[in-house]
Amino acid sequence: MTATRPAAKQENLTGHAPFDVYEIRKDFPILKQKVRGMPLVYLDNAATSQKPQTVIDSLVRYYTAQNSNVHRGIHHLSEIATHEFEGARSKVKTLLNAADDKEIIFVRGTTEGINLVANSYGRKNIGEGDEIIISAMEHHSNIVPWQMLCQETGARLKIIPINDDGELMMEEYERLLGPRTRLVSVVHLSNSLGTINPIKKIVEMAHSYGVPVLVDGAQAVPHTVVDVQGLGCDFYAFSGHKLFGPTGIGVLYGRAELLDTMAPYQSGGDMIKSVTFEKTTYNDLPYKFEAGTPDIAGAIGLGAAIDYVSRIGLDCIAAYEHKLLEYGTAQLLSIDGLRLIGTAKEKAGVLSFNVGEIHPHDLGTVLDAEGIAIRAGHHCTMPVMDRFGVPATARASLAFYNTREEIDILVKGIHKAIEVFS
Ligand code: ALA
Repeated sequence: MTATRPAAKQENLTGHAPFDVYEIRKDFPILKQKVRGMPLVYLDNAATSQKPQTVIDSLVRYYTAQNSNVHRGIHHLSEIATHEFEGARSKVKTLLNAADDKEIIFVRGTTEGINLVANSYGRKNIGEGDEIIISAMEHHSNIVPWQMLCQETGARLKIIPINDDGELMMEEYERLLGPRTRLVSVVHLSNSLGTINPIKKIVEMAHSYGVPVLVDGAQAVPHTVVDVQGLGCDFYAFSGHKLFGPTGIGVLYGRAELLDTMAPYQSGGDMIKSVTFEKTTYNDLPYKFEAGTPDIAGAIGLGAAIDYVSRIGLDCIAAYEHKLLEYGTAQLLSIDGLRLIGTAKEKAGVLSFNVGEIHPHDLGTVLDAEGIAIRAGHHCTMPVMDRFGVPATARASLAFYNTREEIDILVKGIHKAIEVFS
């Protein structure tokens, strides 16, 4: 993948150290392998992203030399594990520009973060006849928890529609907001359309009705600079494994003022101050929401991933990926019969498409034989598929280690599929 290196060698995009995608690729051991005899072209980053060696090393180091439970032991290893685990929390705080470490709750992933808010904040504050606003481009994990809450409480779900480009119809959102609105929960960056939503504006509008906002940041955190205080949002959830970290670890950010009013989501060890058979006193933030032994290794690995992307600079990553998206969009649109789904003006590196009558699964199978990994299906956004009148799409989702040459290989693969199925 180095033959045409000068064409894609990147200039200094944002003032960080010069961005050299070929140097960056060396940090990701998995990218060196062949798949089905071909060099791996990994374009399924929205599903999960690959891990740099520093993240892998941090896991090995933890289990080799540091493994111990946190917040419990007075022995040396427990002190180290606790220090590393809490250090990871501080790294998340800095990444998101949260006001305090105690606003960072470790969870399993975005899904658990949303479920925590639905169950804890939702059950306390949302009742019969109340309304929860989500959008038509939500992942199932930002639909189903609210549906379940509505079924339980008698609240109603209101949906912000999207236009033909896959953008939120903000005037409809304005109409939906009202005295019965109790919560707005929207995605920052759509996993199936690539749309980047105007979160700051969405929050301002909700707050003018005194309504808090939860943001699903699963796709945004790995690809853009996120500043929760700047956005003004009340909750923000993301997953470690999409941010080049391990699976099984994620984060819910919540404003301390709100988290303080919420009941624990799960109960057990670590979330208590004292327990008798008569009464339990809950722990302070963030531990009140972290029952049981957490994913210590996962948090430490996430911390290593944050160190890694911070060294490159998320602004630099976003700028590089934007150029790659522009290139990929132009190349895909040069293919006869290809329909791009998701053409928002504000968009990140997600290319969802259909080619003629070829089923996306068939397309994915042909591409797989060429060593190209994409996702085909509904991407856990069935309402988006309904909105665009398709059962599924093929999706190439980009990361900062992808190259223009890989886009060219994808385009060649699509032409091959067209030949096979014509
Ligand atoms: N939500 C992930 C995706 O978009 C799994 O593929």
